[in-house]
Amino acid sequence: MKKITIAIDGYSACGKSTLAKDLANKLGYIFIDSGAMYRSVALYCIQNKLIENNIPDKKKIIDALPSIRLSFKKIDDKNVLFLNGVNVESQIRSNEVASVVSLIAAISEVREKLVHEQQKMGLNGGIIMDGRDIGSVVFPNAELKLFVTASEEIRVKRRFAELQSKGIKSTLDDVRLNLSERDYLDTHRAISPLIQVDDAIVLDNSNLTREEQLEFVLSLI
Ligand code: CDP
Repeated sequence: MKKITIAIDGYSACGKSTLAKDLANKLGYIFIDSGAMYRSVALYCIQNKLIENNIPDKKKIIDALPSIRLSFKKIDDKNVLFLNGVNVESQIRSNEVASVVSLIAAISEVREKLVHEQQKMGLNGGIIMDGRDIGSVVFPNAELKLFVTASEEIRVKRRFAELQSKGIKSTLDDVRLNLSERDYLDTHRAISPLIQVDDAIVLDNSNLTREEQLEFVLSLI
């Protein structure tokens, strides 16, 4: 059967990556978490002091871009992200990274670099990518585009539980604030803001189990 491209966009913490992983397992496709790539660039900027008082030093960041190498490697059946040869999978989920990533993702040169890498990964189809600009910019010709959404309260609870399971200390209020700040920045930035494209199918998974949402998307495919 022909391998298609599946683009999944939506707000923060609405379960895009969970759905993408389940689909990739079921279909034998590659899953790419594009948010992890933006988080890794943000981590690099923190580590190299390219952000001061929550203000990114745009010039220094653009100059540093050629030194940022991202690669995915399969470990125990999971696609793990390496930043300059180091596995950063757990570090990129920190509150510190979450608090600056949307500022970094608004820099056009950062987006150009990552979009180019993402498009290369998708050349042969058989890929599921989740993010904010996948159906609009990265894969505008994707055969299936989903716009995933869930109520704010459910997203806050899901992200809080996820952080707890990873041993990252947080509060419901901190999570709520971070999600709403990022959603605002992601939908209002000048370059490739999060939008619901005309040909995307909306999936509100507020009241769906993981299995139910997977069944729904498989029926679309
Ligand atoms: O996991 P969560 O939904 O909270 O976010 P993520 O997918 O890890 O993405 C982190 C951040 O990266 C987002 O809030 C966006 O600012 C940025 N991002 C983006 O601009 N474009 C993408 N394709 C993916 C993520």
